[in-house]
Amino acid sequence: MGEKIAGLDVLGEEYFADPHAYHAAFREGAAATRVVLPRGSRAWLVTRYEEARSVLADPRFSKHHEGFRRVVELSRPDGVEGPAFDESLARTMLNMDPPDHTRLRKLVTKAFTARRVELLRPRVREITRSLLDEAAARGDVDLVDALAFPLPITVICEMLDVPMDRRDDFRQWSNVLVGGSFEPVDIQAAGQAMAGYLLQLVEHKRADPGDDFFSELVHAGDDGDRLDQGELIAMAFLLLVAGHETTVNLIANGVYHLLRHPDQLAKLRDDPSLLPGAVEEFLRYESPINQATVRYTTEDVELGDVVIPKDSLVLVSLLSGNRDEAKFPDADRFDITRPTGGHLAFGHGIHFCLGAPLARLEGEIAVGMLLERFDVTPTEDPESLPWRPGTLIRGLVELPVNLTPRGAR
Ligand code: HEM
Repeated sequence: MGEKIAGLDVLGEEYFADPHAYHAAFREGAAATRVVLPRGSRAWLVTRYEEARSVLADPRFSKHHEGFRRVVELSRPDGVEGPAFDESLARTMLNMDPPDHTRLRKLVTKAFTARRVELLRPRVREITRSLLDEAAARGDVDLVDALAFPLPITVICEMLDVPMDRRDDFRQWSNVLVGGSFEPVDIQAAGQAMAGYLLQLVEHKRADPGDDFFSELVHAGDDGDRLDQGELIAMAFLLLVAGHETTVNLIANGVYHLLRHPDQLAKLRDDPSLLPGAVEEFLRYESPINQATVRYTTEDVELGDVVIPKDSLVLVSLLSGNRDEAKFPDADRFDITRPTGGHLAFGHGIHFCLGAPLARLEGEIAVGMLLERFDVTPTEDPESLPWRPGTLIRGLVELPVNLTPRGAR
């Protein structure tokens, strides 16, 4: 299957088009597979559920900011060149081990608890309603562009009080940094532009604080638990990129699979109380993050039937773990009523996604309101729609649909 270099599997364009077929073969093989990433670097890819979960919770699989930079550089398609990634953006808690990780995470946890996030519900509904009003006026839309992308980004920009007028720039920078384009891009320029803008924003919040969550962070207490300038910029970057690159795929991948499975769509329309479970199945079945979960071994580690040497780059495929038959019987069947407990879409262990309650809320509101208001029909063959390139993210480039108001026929 696919291209190989001396027994190593190459994760190239064929892989992006159908990663599930590769994963099924890898899971049959060994506990970890040696792969070649698009720009020639080597990594160990963990694809089985049990091993994926154990790696995510094992401190011998470490994170450090070097890891993020390398993966950003390596995961994009061949030919997409760019010099070193801007260091200042890589100093996020996602790329740190305890105790730094613990300190940084503690500072932001309270803004993302299920209770705090629930307070955002009316505003998330309002944003969704206005996006759907605009989409309805057009009828034929790309659902990624019309709903799945703008909803989460508007919400996170409002939480951080990032001005609306820079959102297109953010989209572009973020896309460049996380991959998702087959075109040559300048990673360094995007990183510098983003870091420069965030620095301005921090300075602005210092001089003129608002009642937003970002101002709160800038002015966090002087008890030693304060973020330094670099940490603030990295934190803002992490939250904005997480807000840009993930929930968009939860929404679009979910709607895509509902359209491909009319029986499941009908079931959900008949009983909207199935929605929270359906969102979990969207997350399990086509996980928005494939391999952005990067680790480094701090020593030789035995994992199932393989030994991964010290200082290896290890990628955990959440997309694959969630399709493992050993955990989810009939895993390739999309079933919005199946038990999904323990799925790995939000990771596992100390780095478990901070934004999970927010992502779930946005996913439920977006899909719920879309189905309540419209009949949704694909305007292109769903089987032929392009997926984003790169190994980090699993998401559609576009999802062209027709929206007809319900009851209008
Ligand atoms: C971490 C997935 C939405 C903020 C993670 C991780 C995963 C993940 C898998 C762990 C990565 C690892 O262990 O290496 C997702 C998915 C989302 C989503 C699938 C949407 C469906 C969000 C949102 C936010 C967010 C909306 C906030 C705005 C974060 C942060 C971390 C994180 C801050 C780092 C936590 C830490 O290092 O302790 N996310 N995420 N995520 N996520 Fe999310």
